[in-house]
Amino acid sequence: MLNRRQAFGALAASAALYTLWRADAIAGGAPGDLDRWAQSLADLNRELAAGRISLTQWQDGMAALDAGVDLAALRGYLDFERLTAAMTFPDKLAQTTDPNLPERINVAGIERHWFIRFFGMKRGGAIIPHVHNNMVSAHLVLEGQFHARTFDRAADMPDPSGNAVMLRPRLDDTLKPGQLITMSDDRDNCHWLVAEADRSFTFDVGILELSPTRLYPLAANEYSMIFVDPTAEQEDGYGLIRAPVVSFKDCAAKFAA
Ligand SMILES: [Fe+2]
Repeated sequence: MLNRRQAFGALAASAALYTLWRADAIAGGAPGDLDRWAQSLADLNRELAAGRISLTQWQDGMAALDAGVDLAALRGYLDFERLTAAMTFPDKLAQTTDPNLPERINVAGIERHWFIRFFGMKRGGAIIPHVHNNMVSAHLVLEGQFHARTFDRAADMPDPSGNAVMLRPRLDDTLKPGQLITMSDDRDNCHWLVAEADRSFTFDVGILELSPTRLYPLAANEYSMIFVDPTAEQEDGYGLIRAPVVSFKDCAAKFAA
């Protein structure tokens, strides 16, 4: 139980964070605004890692945070052009590189593995379809255009003759620079992005090893991913797709060849 003073402190802290996430608070793009954006990002990750906000509050917080950011300023702040200049995309899989937040941003005490990362690909390239165990991520389009599809993960279907995941379709839309998708164990757990322009890039934020009490029948790989094929017809009368679990190799052959 929180005492009255602790409860007020928690409320004040979340109100302060909420103010920082407000889109108009960081829309200007001045360097100080980007510092505020970066500090809010780190604070949001810390709040989630400590269990003080829910998975979907993190998703909504990231959406609010990124909605207000000046993309040209953000690209400069994260040194996007220099870090991605050498990417040539020999195949249709994504290439990645990790920017750094400035030293002055306080990232101490985020008690889970987390990352920020640029994902780039050429037209027709893809983040091939997968679900995640115990993870959240946000994907902001920085350049180009993507066809984005997301699905809620309704149930795992372990089966000796072939595992599957039951998926409920959510988003199926075009994403342009400044738009984003997010995922967690609770919402939009499956995602699939196909680049529709050469040099299409997202800026991603992710936190791993979350919600340790949520156990899945299907185990993920070391990146907390399980590759699936969500292209089956909806077949069960409840709007769910039975998506077979596939290997990385088979998934890449089908969706990024
Ligand atoms: Fe993912």
